[in-house]
Amino acid sequence: MTRIRITEVGPRDGLQNEANVVPTEAKVTFVNALNASGVDEIEVSGFVHPKWVPQLADAADVFGQLERAPGIVYSALVPNEKGLERAIEAGVDKIAVFTAASETFNRHNINASIGESIRRFQPVMKRAKVEGLPVRGYVSTAFHCPYEGKIAPDQVVPVIERLLELGVDEISIGDTIGQASPPEVRALLDAVLTKLDPERVVLHCHDTYGMAIANALTAWEGYGVTRFDSSAGGLGGCPYAPGAAGNVATEDLVYALRASGTDTNVDEAAVVKAAQEIEPHLSRPLNSRLSRVLAEPA
Ligand code: HMG
Ligand code: MG
Repeated sequence: MTRIRITEVGPRDGLQNEANVVPTEAKVTFVNALNASGVDEIEVSGFVHPKWVPQLADAADVFGQLERAPGIVYSALVPNEKGLERAIEAGVDKIAVFTAASETFNRHNINASIGESIRRFQPVMKRAKVEGLPVRGYVSTAFHCPYEGKIAPDQVVPVIERLLELGVDEISIGDTIGQASPPEVRALLDAVLTKLDPERVVLHCHDTYGMAIANALTAWEGYGVTRFDSSAGGLGGCPYAPGAAGNVATEDLVYALRASGTDTNVDEAAVVKAAQEIEPHLSRPLNSRLSRVLAEPA
């Protein structure tokens, strides 16, 4: 049976979008609770500019205090050399560089053109290789951009090619504002999978229009994509993507993928339990089907 690999991005993508800064201890408790859920990777935080994303200013402290469970990869976003330096010092297992298919989004998000961001990543990649750190490359706004509208596959593929030339290990395709649909997923994967194997593709869906699970099942059933990003309780969003909802909920995604004949290590109830740990610190309630199902008395 095909094994699905889940990267839990709630501690990073979820909490970066919170109106209030969540206390460090609560983040550590959340990550420690996720250790029991069976996810393959936890994207713990981002070594981004604390002025731009104050919610993640304590990235090093969270890494310093979390308990590491065997077999789980603890990763973080790194935008540039300064971020990498901080990430190495904090003891990350893996880093993620991030750019976009839309110039306008990239400018808002990381204050650089796509070309400039790729140039920034060159020394980051070199150093990551020396340190033996695996690298993910994110391509945001791969389907729709909050500023430029619909993004065509031929705008996405060249960005992926440049990241592959740099030597990233996997590409995470971001439906940043959660507006993609199965036909758009098919059109993009038809183009992208001429450049790399499905094992190196990750689908990162936000769930603004409730299409994320349909999109993930399309990618798995039609194309053999087995890597997905999601967040416990459906936390998340993007501060530079107005109106974007959270990531698809890990527990709902895992349920749907298992019901469709795949195998994962993830225990949905443990994911919901972890989400409930962080819920009191959030400005909105959890947003997943299973958190409601499991909360109801039998
Ligand atoms: P900048 O201001 O252009 O940076 O920010 P700079 O290189 O001009 O440096 C300015 C100052 O910042 C300098 O300090 C640097 O040292 C400092 P000074 O000399 O003036 O005292 N600096 C830093 N400090 C700490 N950590 C750093 C760092 N870098 C520079 N890493 C930068 C450019 C990229 C840093 C900034 O724009 C940034 O941090 N952006 C992050 C935005 C972000 O985190 N967005 C959300 C994540 S992406 C996302 O959510 C999408 C995703 O989920 C996928 C999807 O859904 O599509 C991944
Ligand atoms: Mg995201």
